[in-house]
Amino acid sequence: MSSEISIRADALGKSFPIYDKPHHRLMQMIAPGPKDRWHRTFRALNNVSFEVRRGETVGIVGRNGSGKSTLLQLICGTLTPSTGSVQAHGRIAALLELGAGFNPDFTGRENVYLNGSLLGLTRQELDARFDDIVAFADIGEFIEQPVKSYSSGMYIRLAFAVAINVTPDILVIDEALSVGDEAFQRKCFARIDAIRNAGATVLFVSHSAGTVIELCDRAILLDRGELLAQGTPKFVISRYHKLVYAPADQFEAVREGIRHEADNADVVPAIGQTASGDGVAQGGAAKEQDDACYEEGLRPQSTMRYTNRGAWIDDPHIETLQGRRVNVLRRGREYVYAYRASFESAAAGARFGMMIKTLTGFELGGAATAPHGTEGLTALPGQAYQVRFRFRASLAPGTYFMNAGITALEADGETFLDRLVDAAVFRVMPDAQRLETGAVDFLAEACVEAAAEAST
Ligand SMILES: Nc1ncnc2c1ncn2[C@@H]1O[C@H](COP(=O)(O)OP(=O)(O)OP(=O)(O)O)[C@@H](O)[C@H]1O
Ligand SMILES: [Mg+2]
Repeated sequence: MSSEISIRADALGKSFPIYDKPHHRLMQMIAPGPKDRWHRTFRALNNVSFEVRRGETVGIVGRNGSGKSTLLQLICGTLTPSTGSVQAHGRIAALLELGAGFNPDFTGRENVYLNGSLLGLTRQELDARFDDIVAFADIGEFIEQPVKSYSSGMYIRLAFAVAINVTPDILVIDEALSVGDEAFQRKCFARIDAIRNAGATVLFVSHSAGTVIELCDRAILLDRGELLAQGTPKFVISRYHKLVYAPADQFEAVREGIRHEADNADVVPAIGQTASGDGVAQGGAAKEQDDACYEEGLRPQSTMRYTNRGAWIDDPHIETLQGRRVNVLRRGREYVYAYRASFESAAAGARFGMMIKTLTGFELGGAATAPHGTEGLTALPGQAYQVRFRFRASLAPGTYFMNAGITALEADGETFLDRLVDAAVFRVMPDAQRLETGAVDFLAEACVEAAAEAST
């Protein structure tokens, strides 16, 4: 990776005037005397310094109002700094808030040309890329409609299609991806990957810890306009979670703790290295499973219940062997997938099942509590069971979904009494030490030896 600097912020600060009354803004313009008597000054960003190397993907996290969007806008040049400076090298494509960049009265087609030319493409270049942009956006006839008639999803599809088809040197994304549907998000992530592989720098604001851990080489934590920590995504996300979940009466102490730690620890790792405070097991000297964690926002949005007939599955979840609930797992470690099964009516030959699937729904593997066609368990009405499957997360880093099901033997054969599709979701953390390729780890053991000389 090149060590060339792509973005450099130096003691960057941004203040906004706050007017207590709307007419104070006017008074400031026309009234004689000192201007600052009509407003207070709010510091949205204060003394922020960092560097991003070319080709790095950096996540910016922080609570609402912490200054993330302000920082991105300063980098993109849509806001000017009040103090300090920021430099960005190369063509920047930005996906900022909805509404930025597009003219609502223009059609999708016109906005593609308008936006593309703002991003530095010539008319000929845009003509050549137009079909790709429209195909990526996949909004059909709406391309000829004014964008003010678009849904927020359609809007972001088009904005994203333009931004990533101009082959930017720097791609800046402000939480925009969460607007699109899952299929579109996956398409975008694949495209971001391609842009990264082409050597571009990506700056990414996200509230999703999983996305930051999955996508980013490094992360920055902002709080009240201040850069509180930077380092590996896992290091920064764990500090971010500490901050977000700190009890109100301890918040300031927790915040100071993070800041102090960041001041004293060299947590900015070289690319490919792990920060000292990261907690990532090195060289097999495994720390206990405590770095598996629970990410609040990581919940299935697509849970569906089929054929509820006399039994009921609830509380499907994953826990560590010690019983702590988790959904961000460490590759190769063992966990328990558990759910509660309650029977409303008697059931004979009851069997319980699980299945792990990829994001696209491909069934990777599962298990049942008894073989098919055997007697299983006889359940009485009102009885409940805790069903537990111990499994090893022998999977590539990524997001996976789980099913749960209960079957029983009825007169016409084995039938589902309850079935939950996408009952739970989990993520497997990235792992720099990983040697396996593909989705499933077959526990292959490698051995390379010098070959004996050929006899013939
Ligand atoms: N034009 C403005 N005038 C006054 N205050 C502003 C302006 N723009 C932003 N702010 C304030 O600056 C602070 C930082 O805002 P910013 O939008 O950068 O936060 P954020 O981290 O992106 O938050 P979110 O997670 O909600 O998107 C907020 O307190 C916000 O109210
Ligand atoms: Mg924002």
